[in-house]
Amino acid sequence: MDVDSDYFVTFTNLIAIIIQSIHTIMKTKIKEQFKSRFGEDGILFVAPGRFNLIGEHTDYNGGFVFPGAIDKFIMAEIKPNGTDKVRVYSIDIDEYVEFGLNEEDAPSQQWARYIFGVCREIIKRGGEVKGFDAVFAGNVPLGAGLSSSAALESCFANALNELFNDNKFPKMELAKIGQSTEHNYCGVNCGIMDQFASVHGKKDNLMRLDCRSGEFEYFPFKLDGYKLVLVDSRVKHELVDSPYNKRRESCERVAATLGVETLRDADMAMLDAAKDKVSAEDYNRAKYVIEEKQRVLDVCDALNRGDYDTVGRCMYGTHEGMSKLYEVSCEELDYLNDVAKECGVTGSRIMGGGFGGCTVNLVKDELYDNFIATVTRKFNERYGHEPKIYPVIVSDGARRYEEQ
Ligand code: GLA
Repeated sequence: MDVDSDYFVTFTNLIAIIIQSIHTIMKTKIKEQFKSRFGEDGILFVAPGRFNLIGEHTDYNGGFVFPGAIDKFIMAEIKPNGTDKVRVYSIDIDEYVEFGLNEEDAPSQQWARYIFGVCREIIKRGGEVKGFDAVFAGNVPLGAGLSSSAALESCFANALNELFNDNKFPKMELAKIGQSTEHNYCGVNCGIMDQFASVHGKKDNLMRLDCRSGEFEYFPFKLDGYKLVLVDSRVKHELVDSPYNKRRESCERVAATLGVETLRDADMAMLDAAKDKVSAEDYNRAKYVIEEKQRVLDVCDALNRGDYDTVGRCMYGTHEGMSKLYEVSCEELDYLNDVAKECGVTGSRIMGGGFGGCTVNLVKDELYDNFIATVTRKFNERYGHEPKIYPVIVSDGARRYEEQ
């Protein structure tokens, strides 16, 4: 073993130890709260947030996405309580809520509606949910575009599947339960990517999902000589009430005009032929989606060849499209992208729905420290606060929590 690989093994071990200690601290807090509120022990479940290498706003257009689960997660302790009431305490928000399981029992607190929605969606699919007690906490930053809400939905969907339904719902159905929760109880007409990634995530693997057929493949993910890092602008990205739903409507309008089910079945020739039948704005939205669909496939091929320059070029292409055509960027995210370019970063782009949150950056090992120092300093000088930096650690999906 040479010095480099020795160093790598030590570094990997160190990360595993840090992740384990974060788990332990969170677990201890949750167990203490659960015991003091409900007097006994429940079962622990976890589910992660996600990042996405490429393929934004393609999921609800029947296209491809390329996400992975990250090392930030929601952890919940849960136990059936023999009543018809759910009693749940959020440690981070420091709020306790009780609700029944019928449609008219919907709680008003946004965070509790995610859990209520999951219960209702399981029941609607013929599953069973009875009363339970729960305490949960998490470290997925809120509003950073890392899918804290999908983590919460997946954590409860997976837990209630095990506790009340003998795991009869397959994983993809759990993802759909989370997605329908967003549609029917939270007002966000999202695609399937976030919940899919949170449920199916696998350590050191990305997943290329075909959102039309639901087929996916794991992609062993190891970067040679590069790192992936998220830079969080800390501009709160909030999809509820954001123009997110409007973007989806634009795509659906264009698809209807072209006579296809989704933009997956459209190409630039079709779009150009219908240019005078759609608004200029809708044209741009659809152009972005059609181009992004191809970029995901190009990135997968490029990764197979170890061609990081192409991966990076596609990432910048996505940023440009999301900023100029899809118009889901903001000044801070465009600035982060400019600084990345100045620092020689191989690829950089807005990640997730947009309107704030993070950029994802593919950086050569030797440029990494300089990039982090420069982007932190320059962003702070301009906006009066430092961005947050999250190295990407690709992790496992929703599961019952087992001590490692
Ligand atoms: C949000 C949605 C996803 C997806 C992304 C954009 O995260 O929840 O379904 O549309 O935006 O790619």
